[in-house]
Amino acid sequence: MQDVTRTSPEPQPGILDISPYVAGKSHADGANEVTKLSSNENPLGPSPAAKNAVREAAETLELYPSSDHAGLRAAIARVHGLDAARIICGAGSDEVIAFLCNAYAGPGTEVIHTEHGFAMYRISALAAGATPVEVPEKARTLDAEAILAAVTPSTRLVFLANPNNPTGTMVASEVLEALAAALPETCLLVIDSAYSEYVEGYDGGAALVDAHPNVVMTRTFSKIYGLGALRIGWGYASAEIIDVLNRIRGPFNVSAPALVAAEAAVEDQGYVIRCRQANAQWRGWMVQEFRALGLSVDEPFANFVVPRFASREQAEACEAHLRSHGILVRLVAGYNLPEALRITVGDEIACRKVVSLIGEFLKQTS
Ligand SMILES: Cc1ncc(COP(=O)(O)O)c(C=O)c1O
Repeated sequence: MQDVTRTSPEPQPGILDISPYVAGKSHADGANEVTKLSSNENPLGPSPAAKNAVREAAETLELYPSSDHAGLRAAIARVHGLDAARIICGAGSDEVIAFLCNAYAGPGTEVIHTEHGFAMYRISALAAGATPVEVPEKARTLDAEAILAAVTPSTRLVFLANPNNPTGTMVASEVLEALAAALPETCLLVIDSAYSEYVEGYDGGAALVDAHPNVVMTRTFSKIYGLGALRIGWGYASAEIIDVLNRIRGPFNVSAPALVAAEAAVEDQGYVIRCRQANAQWRGWMVQEFRALGLSVDEPFANFVVPRFASREQAEACEAHLRSHGILVRLVAGYNLPEALRITVGDEIACRKVVSLIGEFLKQTS
């Protein structure tokens, strides 16, 4: 491989500090059939209405998509009771996270994320030339006091996910309310609600956005809506922040199939409820089974379960055992959780298979 540091132009400061994002595995050597429980995808797939919308969109692929995303923003606003003018759509919520860093952070500024926070916060902060600051959590759960203690006059953004990935833990809205109230006005609090639909009755932080001009909520269609392949997410913030973000957004950043699929998906809340109920049923069952096997598991709030093993070596050996049987789960050492595995809640067959294989692994190795 070419030595890029000697033969290519120098990239901007911070870029070479980025460790490229490692996605959940999708192949297992030697296995004909693979069950992918490594990327928190919806085992039931998207709403049939969303699939039909993509089929229809295939008839007009020569046309550029809408630039203002008015149809999707109106649908989201209707379903969630929000102001459509204060919504921005992105190619996944990843893109909204990048917009926030590019617009509000930069050289000489700091971006806070938590100890077990989603990797794209650090990557997007470094890409913008800012300094990421990692703040400890308390027993794998957000620690608002530690966040406030890390804030300096240079802090521009605080990223947190609620529920969090990859811990699956969650804090009450009051904790976020107190954090938002205590942060300086110059610092944006970004509540990443990629998994909020898995929590019945939770607004994902929308009310906090309405109450505080420096709070932003991000959401995705990649998780409960089952549209990860299309890359579509959104953000909700004050009119001023949305205006800033739109200035750096590409005119056609979201594809037409993604826009119509997301619109159909958000209108089909009955399907979302069925997905949430199935997830809760099998998630609860997995937690109970893992605990019965003697593994420690925090109460999960999203669509994955995170059993902790006796050691990093045991977690890695278990991951390899599952992989040898065609089941892919996520090692999370890169998220400061070396002794844990993150396992997406699959369908009934997948859940039963993963539990039985882990039981078999523990028996063989004890
Ligand atoms: C906490 C969190 N935020 C954001 C994302 C990004 O989602 P997307 O870019 O697919 O909308 C993910 C994806 O795994 C996530 O786990």
